[in-house]
Amino acid sequence: MRKRTAVHRVVSAFRRTWRTWRTWPALSGLVSTFVLSTLVMGQAPYSEPLRPRVHFTPPQNFMNDPNGLVFYKGEYHLFYQHNPFGREWGHMSWGHAVSSDLLHWTHLPVALREEDGIMIFSGSVVVDSNNTSGFCREERGDRSCLVAVYTGHGHGKQTQNLAFSNDRGRTWTKYARNPVIDLGLENFRDPKAFWHEGSRRWVLVTVLADQHKVRFFGSPDLKRWEVLSDFGPAGATGGVWECPDLFPLPVDGNPDDVRWVLDVDINPGALAGGSGGQYFIGRFEGTRFVNDNAPGVTLWADYGKDFYATLSFSDVPPADGRRIWMGWISNWLYANEEPTVTWRGAQSIPRVLGLRRGSDGTRLIQTPVAELDRLRTGRAMNIGSRVPLPASADVAIELAHGEWQEAGLRLSNAAGEEVVVGVRADVPELFVDRRKSRAGPAHKEYRARHAGPVRWIDGRLSIRLLFDRSVVEVFANDGETVITDRVYPTSPLDRIEWIGGGSSTGARATMWELASVWGAR
Ligand code: FRU
Repeated sequence: MRKRTAVHRVVSAFRRTWRTWRTWPALSGLVSTFVLSTLVMGQAPYSEPLRPRVHFTPPQNFMNDPNGLVFYKGEYHLFYQHNPFGREWGHMSWGHAVSSDLLHWTHLPVALREEDGIMIFSGSVVVDSNNTSGFCREERGDRSCLVAVYTGHGHGKQTQNLAFSNDRGRTWTKYARNPVIDLGLENFRDPKAFWHEGSRRWVLVTVLADQHKVRFFGSPDLKRWEVLSDFGPAGATGGVWECPDLFPLPVDGNPDDVRWVLDVDINPGALAGGSGGQYFIGRFEGTRFVNDNAPGVTLWADYGKDFYATLSFSDVPPADGRRIWMGWISNWLYANEEPTVTWRGAQSIPRVLGLRRGSDGTRLIQTPVAELDRLRTGRAMNIGSRVPLPASADVAIELAHGEWQEAGLRLSNAAGEEVVVGVRADVPELFVDRRKSRAGPAHKEYRARHAGPVRWIDGRLSIRLLFDRSVVEVFANDGETVITDRVYPTSPLDRIEWIGGGSSTGARATMWELASVWGAR
């Protein structure tokens, strides 16, 4: 009898602990993260087989969209959608990191946390240079501070909210009178704020996600917002619209010929399946966006399957003048199932944006920031026969029109896994073929070949391939066509060779190893 009681006591104590454990995901998440990171990451930070060496990944747990990209007092800030407690989407908060060169990031504590049943969804950060909001504490003549505009998700609706920081983004205070916009809608999110000099007010770009509409608001102080106009439906409408952005860009670098780019992501219904980014080109005078193209025209930012929720940096100094954006390298089809350990999700290399006018109209071009060149290490190597492929590499490929059908490079390993990056001459198209890139189990949407149109320029085509353990970013003709894909080989892809066209007159591939930004080998 006594024995049974003792057993009984142990069992019920266990049950009690288990129940508490389950109702405290935060606690259980923290403990398992600690155990996992000590076991797996502790010895070898950023050295796991699939962990990129030059792309941003969270120290642990789940990450999706980049948020609040802003330059302030010498630092680029990267906030990101983050589950601090687990490796799947949930408990959304804003993770945070800073960098002085867009590549070497320092992790900082979570900036904005889920609270009172309200998750912190995507949004943006602006520098309120003249304290229009009244949130900034004036110090030594400096009246500026950072203000975040984010979506609060909870209690059956999505609303727009503010938080501010007076210590260069290190600590944040949620505005006591949140929300600042409440339409009582379930799908109203992802505010991107910017100062519109022409109308001398703040403009907020949001989506009415399931109506396939962008809704613009205006405000003098970031707190009181009036509706300005709606744009859409237009372009691709096969899924909800998310993460809008709006910015001006000169066409072919000409400051007297400026167009506005309205970027709208879509999930599902993107070109390669699942989630992806489309954009519109037009005019914006401060109130409404006028599309230069017919509503039926769809323009895709990237022809791969893994480039989503792009956001451009706010407040890059005019002397620099670049419009730089980053995107999340994943797809909602399988984001929660990526076969990485301790962490999930990667951000793209920051890309500089431009507009180029061609025979089929004006198009967005994207190139990796020039800062990336500084990571090139060792000697440039000409790829002739099969050579070793470093864990992260920058490869410049030049192709010449010739007698070949397909030309490009095969990245492979001894296990027979391979990724092929190349051009098919007759279409012509740029492609990334990851069908044979993983011998192990993979999500059914993973094995695929992705392609986008390219053109010969005077019989030549140039391609830049960034490879980073589990990331492939490919830019053709200085970013006219871009393909971004994750790859999950079961052992490192460690060799590279031509698949054809390599012997064509003038074909060349030059490779540099890229040094890790995490100090990892
Ligand atoms: C895009 C998105 C956003 C939302 C966030 C939630 O990937 O769905 O619309 O704010 O992720 O994590």
